[in-house]
Amino acid sequence: MALEELYQEIILDHYRHPRNKGKIEDPDIHEHATNPLCGDEIDISAKVENGVIKEVKFSGQGCSISQSSASLLTEALKGKTLEEAETFIAAFREMLAGHELPEDTGIDFGELEALRGVTKFPARLKCATLAWNTAQEAIKAFEKTHSNH
Ligand code: FES
Repeated sequence: MALEELYQEIILDHYRHPRNKGKIEDPDIHEHATNPLCGDEIDISAKVENGVIKEVKFSGQGCSISQSSASLLTEALKGKTLEEAETFIAAFREMLAGHELPEDTGIDFGELEALRGVTKFPARLKCATLAWNTAQEAIKAFEKTHSNH
């Protein structure tokens, strides 16, 4: 199977069988966002314990790229510390911006490599980053609240 086909398979698989879909009750982290270009929506909620993302879920409606990207995000961020999650989100956005990461970051994108192809379609970039920007905002809001204590 050609790499592009494999990537397409991964995206469709996550779109048809989304991982961690739903809403967490009484979440520590929560953010909802809409892509102003199309009206598609993403909602991210998570539980945080001792600075670690214990559980993360998404819900929403939208194109295959936005929904599969959100599904992949939940798998990528679960188990990470908030700091690791922020680093990972920033690296993912760099990747989608077409930048190569320095080799010493040790970041492995795994199945998220499937979204790399989006760099060739700038109009779809917002689809791929919607969930990630939402998660970034959610983490920032959480950190702000908790640093005030
Ligand atoms: Fe709306 Fe992709 S077309 S997020």
